[in-house]
Amino acid sequence: MDHTNSASHLYAAHLAALQIQAESALARCGYDALLIASGIEKYAFLDDRPYLFQPNPHFKHWLPLTANPYSWLLIRPGHKPRLVYYQPDDYWHVPPSDPSGFWVEHFELIVISQPEDAARHLQVAAGGRAAIIGEADAAIAGVVPNNPQDLLHLLHYRRAVKSAYELEQMRAAQRRAVPAHLAAKAAFEAGASELDIHRAYLAASGHTDRDLPYSNIVALNEHGAVLHYQYQDSRPPAESRALLIDAGAQVNGYASDITRTWSLGRDERFDALLAAMERAQLALVDEVRAGVDYRDIHLSTHRHIARILVEQGIVKKGLSSPEALVEQRVTSTFFPHGIGHLLGLQVHDIGGFMADETGAPAAKPEGHPYLRLTRVLQPGMVVTIEPGLYFIPTLLKKLAATPAGAAIDWGLVEHLARFGGVRIEDDVACREADQAPENLTRDAFAAA
Ligand code: GLY
Ligand code: MN
Ligand code: MN
Repeated sequence: MDHTNSASHLYAAHLAALQIQAESALARCGYDALLIASGIEKYAFLDDRPYLFQPNPHFKHWLPLTANPYSWLLIRPGHKPRLVYYQPDDYWHVPPSDPSGFWVEHFELIVISQPEDAARHLQVAAGGRAAIIGEADAAIAGVVPNNPQDLLHLLHYRRAVKSAYELEQMRAAQRRAVPAHLAAKAAFEAGASELDIHRAYLAASGHTDRDLPYSNIVALNEHGAVLHYQYQDSRPPAESRALLIDAGAQVNGYASDITRTWSLGRDERFDALLAAMERAQLALVDEVRAGVDYRDIHLSTHRHIARILVEQGIVKKGLSSPEALVEQRVTSTFFPHGIGHLLGLQVHDIGGFMADETGAPAAKPEGHPYLRLTRVLQPGMVVTIEPGLYFIPTLLKKLAATPAGAAIDWGLVEHLARFGGVRIEDDVACREADQAPENLTRDAFAAA
């Protein structure tokens, strides 16, 4: 079987499963049809410049279209899905090209050139009820999104488990990002600025900024301590000590989300910390098993961070029990975010807080407000595992003012703070409970 055949085979199976899921969700929630808007272009206030189009993730779940505003899907039990495909006659922009690719044959295709023309192709049988998923501004005459919560819960809950087709797209998104990470590392080692490292990343990934699944975080030295550092200095620092780069890629609407921290190998203390974090990250990846409560992986991370703080001498002897370090918020000073999240059509894929498909919430552990995933893992779920250890001035200042502050080696903290921090993030697919997880990111690094 050649690659094209296998891709189209996997896609056909993916689509068939979506159709079954949609039919069952419609029946359970009392609807006759599912309508999904791709979304509309949005414009800057008082301006004619559009923001970057962000498709409705429900739309791109069905087909690999990410740049198609004003299009719609109509799903009905027992029918081929209908795609109402917007293709304007536009000489200002490049309009969407003629539909082509492995997905086309699976749809009843209707091409329109005016957004409002979609309405007449989206009618359900007289007296029928339609569930209409989309933002309010996607509404056209008689087709107004109603986003039924019960139906959305069913779809969001199931979306966490990826089909074989989706896993293939996500593997490809790794293969696209990893050579770019290696190019960024080389640029860092050559002393490049953040902006030039970013450019090296884009060139190697073949993406422009528009194609990235999220804005790259390219942080040299102390900038690594800003969790979502949003700038890119155009001039290199006098001395480059560490690079923290959090950057992904997109394939057919599926994202990768990868962080690497690189040093120049010239500082024993920072390099020891980096190596300890690498070992801990791999151990945490190994915890991604079916039946494991993801909250426990987050709590396990805090125990790793506690141990590392003591072993690296950041916490001096005296306050060395992991429980005390967690309890007194020492670990959350250095690791103030969650261990990760669901990944897929969205970088922070929806459905992370659901105890079941009715939408009952699965609570975050007390004192851990930034955790984005509280579910029990199932085979086929893709999650990130992204432990970090940072030297964040505002949090360190607060820690210094508590009794636990006395246990910190502030001289060492000052030394390490010049490197910003460490985050290592892999994308990991859960397999059956007795099987080690698939580390999508490390597999792509190994093959690069
Ligand atoms: N890149 C965003 C995150 O890691 O969650
Ligand atoms: Mn992430
Ligand atoms: Mn990330």
